[in-house]
Amino acid sequence: MSIKKSASWFVAGTDTGVGKTLVSCALLHAANTAGYSTLGLKPLAAGCEKSAAGLRNEDALALQALASHTLPYEQINPVALEAALAPHIAAAQEGKRLTVDRLLGYCRGALTNETQFRLVEGAGGWRVPLNQVERLSALPKALNIPVILVVGIRLGCLNHALLTAEAIARDGVKLSAWVACSVEEMPALEENINTLRALLPAPCLGHIPRLQQGSIKELAAEAASYLQIEPLIQAL
Ligand SMILES: Nc1ncnc2c1ncn2[C@@H]1O[C@H](COP(=O)(O)OP(=O)(O)OP(=O)(O)O)[C@@H](O)[C@H]1O
Ligand SMILES: [Mg+2]
Repeated sequence: MSIKKSASWFVAGTDTGVGKTLVSCALLHAANTAGYSTLGLKPLAAGCEKSAAGLRNEDALALQALASHTLPYEQINPVALEAALAPHIAAAQEGKRLTVDRLLGYCRGALTNETQFRLVEGAGGWRVPLNQVERLSALPKALNIPVILVVGIRLGCLNHALLTAEAIARDGVKLSAWVACSVEEMPALEENINTLRALLPAPCLGHIPRLQQGSIKELAAEAASYLQIEPLIQAL
């Protein structure tokens, strides 16, 4: 396997709570195991706990724990909002305004760290608003990085996945791959996943079944056993 010096992907989801963080952590684990240096960012997080060091978000801490490259928390999650709400609403409650430019600056800064395999986890779904005019989807576009789409496998996911893939294509952003993540039980599971394999315009890295709960490191290792990262790296 070969990889460019700085390969980055934006991890988008069909919705919130569909497995973006779990998949990101699993991919970091797989890349670490394959011998790559890794880094994971969560530039915008709504839903943070107060700590002595400042606001802390579970996703950002998980990415920090799985990355091989040690980064200060503030570089991983520069915009941490306390309320677990849509980001622009949580920001307004704190008297803050979100912009693509600011997120872009933070991400560009963090991505100067020399690592081979980098992931930038989104927030919610593709068209999450940042303010009246900007959407978070403008961030991967401005960073000029491709997307890995996490499809939360449940009833309704075919429509969500196809709409998201259409929006990504319309934005002129490359969809590198997608991952099926079983967030709940679903009848006709295989038929649904096969439909997505046939209709989504990118390779599937694998299907993570419903896993038993555990620590994020345990979950990431188990989830990684269902994924292959070769198509991702070959597509570079
Ligand atoms: N395949 C799975 N098996 C078991 N639990 C899962 C699976 N996928 C996700 N989960 C759990 O579902 C919850 C949501 O997953 P996760 O946090 O990865 O979603 P997300 O898309 O990152 O959400 P957010 O939009 O909040 O960032 C988590 O508690 C996670 O551990
Ligand atoms: Mg997440």
